[in-house]
Amino acid sequence: MRLLFVCLGNICRSPAAEAIFLHKIHHRGIADKYFVDSAGTGGWHVGRPADSRMRAAAKRRGIVISSIARQIDLQDFENFDLILTMDSDNFKDVSRLAKQTKVNIKPMLSYAKSDGIVDVPDPYYGGESGFEDVLNLLDEACEGLIEDLGC
Ligand code: 4NP
Repeated sequence: MRLLFVCLGNICRSPAAEAIFLHKIHHRGIADKYFVDSAGTGGWHVGRPADSRMRAAAKRRGIVISSIARQIDLQDFENFDLILTMDSDNFKDVSRLAKQTKVNIKPMLSYAKSDGIVDVPDPYYGGESGFEDVLNLLDEACEGLIEDLGC
C-alpha cells in the first residue's frame, strides 16, 4: 500500500502526518506493508527540511520528522494508491491535478473521530500551540487511517 500525505508547503502538516504514520506502523510491526511519502502542492520550500518548530514539537513526542520538501507531480498519481490531503484547498488542488487517474484522494481528517473539523489548520503563521493542535489532530487521524486500512 502506497500512501502520499499532501499539504501546501510540505514543511509542516504533511511531513508531520508522514512521520506520525511511520512511527505508528513501526511500533505495530507493520511497516513492511507500506510505502509512505509526503509532498506539497506548492514549490516554495522544495529541498528544505521540515519547519524547525514542527520538528521540535514532534521530537517532544518521540517522533522524528526527516523528510525533505518536494512538490507533488503527475507521476505521483501512478506511484501511490491513496493520497491524504490536509485541507480543503489541498483536496481541490490535488483532485484537479489528478484528473481521470484512478488514484484515491481522501481528506486526512475524514479518518479522525472528532466530528466537525474538516481541515488540519495551517500552523505556519501561528504560535507554538498551533503545532501541538496539528500533531493531536494528525495522531487521531493516523489511528483511524490504520484502523480503516485493516492492519
Ligand atoms: P504546510 O504549511 O502546508 O503545512 O507545509 C505551510 C508552510 C509554508 C507556507 C504555507 C503553508 N508558505 O506559504 O510558505
